Amino acid sequence: MGRRFEPSGPLRGSLRPPPDKSISHRAALIAAMGEGETAIGGYLDAADTRSTLGAVEALGARVEGVGADAIEPLLRVGGVGLRGAAAAAIDVGNAGTLLRLLPGWLAGQEGGSWTLDGDESIRRRPVDRIVEPLRSMGADLSCREERLPPLEVRGAPLHGARYELPVASAQVKSCLLFAGLLADGETRVVEPQPTRDHSERMLRAAGAEIERDGDAIVVRPARQLWPERFVVPADFSSAAFFLVAGLLVPGSEVALEGVGLNPTRTGLLSILTRMGAELEVRPQGEEGGEPTGTIVARASELGATEVGGAEVPLAIDELPLVALAACFAAGETTIREAAELRRKESDRIAAVAAALGGLGAAVEASEDGMRIAGAGGLRGGTVDSRGDHRIAMLGAIAGLASRQGVEVGGMEAAAVSYPGFEADLASLGGG
Ligand code: S3P
Repeated sequence: MGRRFEPSGPLRGSLRPPPDKSISHRAALIAAMGEGETAIGGYLDAADTRSTLGAVEALGARVEGVGADAIEPLLRVGGVGLRGAAAAAIDVGNAGTLLRLLPGWLAGQEGGSWTLDGDESIRRRPVDRIVEPLRSMGADLSCREERLPPLEVRGAPLHGARYELPVASAQVKSCLLFAGLLADGETRVVEPQPTRDHSERMLRAAGAEIERDGDAIVVRPARQLWPERFVVPADFSSAAFFLVAGLLVPGSEVALEGVGLNPTRTGLLSILTRMGAELEVRPQGEEGGEPTGTIVARASELGATEVGGAEVPLAIDELPLVALAACFAAGETTIREAAELRRKESDRIAAVAAALGGLGAAVEASEDGMRIAGAGGLRGGTVDSRGDHRIAMLGAIAGLASRQGVEVGGMEAAAVSYPGFEADLASLGGG
């Protein structure tokens, strides 16, 4: 499906972006692990998080409040307990987070067996990053070519372990923390750099013994979890598209409300502020154990910057937007130490370089990032989403800020995380 996004007049107004995708996946999974019923306020109604509901239902959890057209504001999930998942073939769709997190819970349930598979993109997403550490805990798993889905899990007794993540990944960390709940001793996951800590916050709220010890997260075996209630704030990663649109489209001022401001997610704010962005953050307190607030973005003159190291995991899903902003900034921007971008829903280094290059940007991809020479904006042209939701939405924002407009091929991919994206954009006066 091709969609055109014309150069836009000023974007104005405020909106609440959809609920957080990462937190929604975790809420459904931890609710399924729990005893009794968990109420989830504001579960994300999008393709990825529907895959997770389908998965927990296949495992025997009861899900109420999912209409044909929309998930109700309050979702109720009746858990099966930590050791009660039924054997099943699970379709994870396009959801990498589901693919990497769920096996951690299943691996320690003796006697069960499960298969996880998904769409064409998921079949290119590596799972050796979870298979290897889970095996070191005693898990019995197999996958295609020792690294790709389909993934088979046969429940086995697990022992606690200490594992140093070779690459900072919240998905792998969360998988091992789930496995640690069913292991026979303490499990210690050492992170090279801090990554999003939603799993830790939510497991603790559900009664798990889990704590940070320096650069490690330590979890102890659990008999039961009692999550009872989760509340999902608006997704910072979805808000990010409108923040950058507000900065790039002259005369704009947009406010994003109720947005999760967990510091392990908001690396983009420090990057953009360093580039000279006029951003105002108004904290509102906490929602479901996560800090939230309103972020206001006003059209700004930007300068180039360098991104690498510990900042990368804190802004991993927003780095394509940093590259877009860099096209409008004075000077040369460099993104490095971000090779993980090649292993997302698409190869996001290749996809971003092709998309922005095709719109007139001077962008050069490297093995672990890219260099962008700011050239006062973008001409326009066409962007292929490659079936990747974040590339589709990147193309749309590029179109609004471009001189000639952008045609995005495969815009429907946005529904993976943000089905209402075009309507929300229109409500701000864009698209
Ligand atoms: C996610 C973690 C990140 C991120 C993904 C969601 C999560 O992946 O890119 O969109 O919910 O834990 P990695 O942990 O593999 O870097």
